Amino acid sequence: RYAVDPTRPQYHYTPYQGWINDPAGLIQWGGKYQLFNQYNPVAPLWGPMYWSHAESTDAVHWRDLPVALTPPYVNNTQDTSGRYTGSAVKNQDTGALQLIFTDATNVAYHPHAVPEVVSSAVSSDGIHFDLYSGNPIVAEAPPSASAGFRDPKVFWDPTANNWKMVVGSGDGHTGNVQLYKSTGPSSSELLSWEYVGVLHQGDGSRGIMWECPNFFPIDDKWVLFYGQDKGFKGWYEVGSFNGTTFVSEKLGLFDSGPDSYATQWFVDDAGRNLAVTWINNWNTTKWPSRVNGWAGTQSIMRELFIREDGGLGQKPVEEVSLLASGPAKSLGQTDVFGTYEVGFTDTARLQATVDLAASDAPAFTIELFASGAESTSLVYNFANRSLTIDTTQAGYGQAGTWTATIAKPADNRLSLDILIDRSSIEVFVGDGTAMTVRVFPRYQESKNIRITSDGGKKTVFDDIVLTPMGSAW
Ligand code: FRU
Repeated sequence: RYAVDPTRPQYHYTPYQGWINDPAGLIQWGGKYQLFNQYNPVAPLWGPMYWSHAESTDAVHWRDLPVALTPPYVNNTQDTSGRYTGSAVKNQDTGALQLIFTDATNVAYHPHAVPEVVSSAVSSDGIHFDLYSGNPIVAEAPPSASAGFRDPKVFWDPTANNWKMVVGSGDGHTGNVQLYKSTGPSSSELLSWEYVGVLHQGDGSRGIMWECPNFFPIDDKWVLFYGQDKGFKGWYEVGSFNGTTFVSEKLGLFDSGPDSYATQWFVDDAGRNLAVTWINNWNTTKWPSRVNGWAGTQSIMRELFIREDGGLGQKPVEEVSLLASGPAKSLGQTDVFGTYEVGFTDTARLQATVDLAASDAPAFTIELFASGAESTSLVYNFANRSLTIDTTQAGYGQAGTWTATIAKPADNRLSLDILIDRSSIEVFVGDGTAMTVRVFPRYQESKNIRITSDGGKKTVFDDIVLTPMGSAW
């Protein structure tokens, strides 16, 4: 399916037709991974939001299910009222799959409506969802949420043994995150909420409205992440939480590339902290996949962990190896002088380990989607330990450079795990850094993978492994 579309990722989730943005409602329910998406089936453009739905038995292969939520008014195409981003929980009493989301109303057409409230829908079969008759479950935003009030994310708080909910907002000066706690009896515990207060706020330097907050315990820390509306960066903060107050200790970018936004976290049945991020942001959605009737792609399932330096790290789940369509080709230990052709493909996994001590080049470059005319470059500078993605020669789409500083590995080995998929690149570095970018090559022949060692000196790889990747469907 989709195989003839040169920009359509093959082993990442994309909509069959139309537009997707944020992943939502992530949960493992009934044993299966559930993925919902902000969705407009009508056109490859944002519009009145539906929730599309897919499920997976292994976290990497997807099967489309019927649309889960539809917008309230579809008679007027200018009325963008819709069901915005939210989360999913298994109701402990009934076992049902419960969605808790933003009901957004376009006040240009409904002047008396509250623009953003929290609503719920429930399903006993995981396919058909009924809106709760008592909606909305949070009917108005607190005063400190004047800039917006959306993207409720429900989570279990083990410090207080209750359900809590964070909602993205802002007060006009800075983005902030609102905290609620569940007050209902167990049969309706996810339907009645009490406002606790502002969990966290910024100083204005990271935007005045924070979207898609997620808050969760991991190891002995708590992680908060959110998207900066305008600028569209995803931030994380690692700190401590006592049931009411979050004390932030470390701030960082969730992903150091340009195309990651609206990340959602969840815990699966195996207890792993997982996340899916939208491989785009609101500045880059205008690029070319739209001509083929679809827009938007979700990241591979990522596992989160606390890095050695205390930051939030991520790596692809191990099930990604199930997506291989053939045997991995190991090139053996490789001393690279000058330029080395690794392969010709646009759908692959490239894993490379560099022996930092044995290399004496100032830098090495990995070019992807490369031909004589264009390429996307990944440049590692040994002295600065910096990794840069450069799309200035990458064809259509955004041109820019993005740099991350990579932690010094204890064993002097730099490891790179690169997922290449038609128009997306996800780079995972051994220290937990992720860099994600979408690229749209101009030429059909731009499928080479090339490695260059700079300055006439050598870069020593322990190994370079290229694995052909198949389909997520
Ligand atoms: C983030 C976001 C959310 C909102 C949704 C609307 O990308 O703006 O805040 O719920 O997209 O589709």
